[in-house]
Amino acid sequence: MRNVSSLLAFYLAFLSCNQTTEDNTAPEPDRTWWKEAIVYQLYPRSFKDTDGDGVGDLKGIIDELDYIKSLGVTAVWLNPIYGSPNADNGYDVSDYRAIMAEFGTMADFDRMLEGMHQRGIKLVMDIVVNHSSDQHPWFRASRSSRTSPYRDYYHWWPAEKGKPPYRYSLFDPSGDAWKYDSITDAYYLHYFSFQQPDLKWENPELRREVYDIMRFWAEKGVDGFRLDAFQFAAKDTTYPAFPAGYEKDFIQYYAMQPGLHEYLQEMNREVLSRYQVMSVSEGAGRNFEDAHALVDADRHELNMAYAFEGVDIPQYEGYALDSMKAVFGRWDAEFAHDGWLSIFLANHDQARMVSRWGNDNPAFRNASASLLNTFILSMRGTPYCYYGDELGMTNIDFDSISQYRDIAALNSYQKARSEGADMDDFMKRLNFSSRDNGRTPMQWTAAPRAGFTSGTPWLPVNDNHTELNVARQDSTEGSVLNHFRRLTQLRRDHLELVYGAYDLVDAGSPQVYAYTRTLGEDRLLVLLNFGDAEVVPTLPAAIVVGKQLIDNYPAQTAGTMRLKPWQAVIYRLE
Ligand code: GLC
Repeated sequence: MRNVSSLLAFYLAFLSCNQTTEDNTAPEPDRTWWKEAIVYQLYPRSFKDTDGDGVGDLKGIIDELDYIKSLGVTAVWLNPIYGSPNADNGYDVSDYRAIMAEFGTMADFDRMLEGMHQRGIKLVMDIVVNHSSDQHPWFRASRSSRTSPYRDYYHWWPAEKGKPPYRYSLFDPSGDAWKYDSITDAYYLHYFSFQQPDLKWENPELRREVYDIMRFWAEKGVDGFRLDAFQFAAKDTTYPAFPAGYEKDFIQYYAMQPGLHEYLQEMNREVLSRYQVMSVSEGAGRNFEDAHALVDADRHELNMAYAFEGVDIPQYEGYALDSMKAVFGRWDAEFAHDGWLSIFLANHDQARMVSRWGNDNPAFRNASASLLNTFILSMRGTPYCYYGDELGMTNIDFDSISQYRDIAALNSYQKARSEGADMDDFMKRLNFSSRDNGRTPMQWTAAPRAGFTSGTPWLPVNDNHTELNVARQDSTEGSVLNHFRRLTQLRRDHLELVYGAYDLVDAGSPQVYAYTRTLGEDRLLVLLNFGDAEVVPTLPAAIVVGKQLIDNYPAQTAGTMRLKPWQAVIYRLE
């Protein structure tokens, strides 16, 4: 592998020779750190507890900074750590400038950030400003009187006008996003739970407050912002009725409403463009046009978005590899020239990656987890790797609703019951898809409570921590963890994995996902067997395989093109 600068020089020369070629499919290597970043998403509540209260904390993150560094990731995205009553685990903020008491203090935060920066790791903060907590002083003031200066920070509908036109709530047990509040005889809007009233972005005062908050964190030196649920922030404040039958079509009718792009451009002018920070949108709008409008450089809005179409593919019933190839291929092609996306298969809103996309049966778990990590770390876009997936952590398998903690699970259970749903079926589906699956404590050791806490963990530790844990994998050659470390190294060494053109090979195979990544003369082939059986991929004659760069099986299988169950290999192409 030639070094990065000579590769780039070669590639720039290649581009200039090809300036007149109409169908030059290679992207401009418009290099920026956030395109080359490997992001580790860390759910602070579940990472490491140092004070025995069963909840992870910032000191726990500080203790494990060397571990994070050892993963080869270059940035951390932290789920919200602000003051919060925790109706939705920090996604209901009551103080945007404070650290949640359970997580520690601002001094801990400063130490954590410094420790990250000393190790060359950037920090991306979660900014939750589609809504606040109902305990935020703004909302307390807003609901206290119709003439409060904070009244217009939220969406209110006076009851004398009758019931407001229906709005769907994603988290409400009745599905109704308007909650009646007797204090001022009015309804307020909450797209999530009633403890998460939506902020009124149409009010310039509110927008100024938010930019101030973002500047506060940018001044502290954070390196980026992930905008939570922001595609829903703009609203038509005449609250028109949606067409009958479409009231619940959330993305279509609730996302990307007029005003949103102006707010983002303003945010860019007021905050993002003034600091060396990256920005990522949760959600990519209703269609490609929306997605481009959010992230194309000439829009001056955000740097990248993550689209849900991919992560939504695996269902309780299973999924077809064809859909995965089609969806990831479509998004890649659409953003080959302009804009930039995140690549991810899991996050804190999903069940565990290996249980949804792979096979978490112990016979295939390690291979399939490593294969999925290979996929994320060999696609174009910025990879986001969710804590625990570097070990292949699995779903936990709850059988009673009393074991769940997530507000989304608890409220959807109530809703299903009140609608007379088949509750056995509901519980099976919840067991497969619940967000709590992805939030169980990090499995550090085989000890009781997995070395996560000395107290009672806020969410049970998975029983399989006795054999699936960091300590064991750290000292095992070829473990999922050590394979993950080799993958991040490979991505850091091969710019073609970041910027190279993506081309599908063997498109028709129901079991093999194969693609090339090409940058200038450097070409890699990624071969992934998404199945429990061996398979021989069908490769075009033009593909001449060279050196094998990585394999999730211990024995070298070079020479044979037969792939073992869930085998994942990357070759250089001649
Ligand atoms: C986003 C977050 C999710 C949260 C919701 C409400 O989707 O990722 O965890 O529950 O917003 O803030």
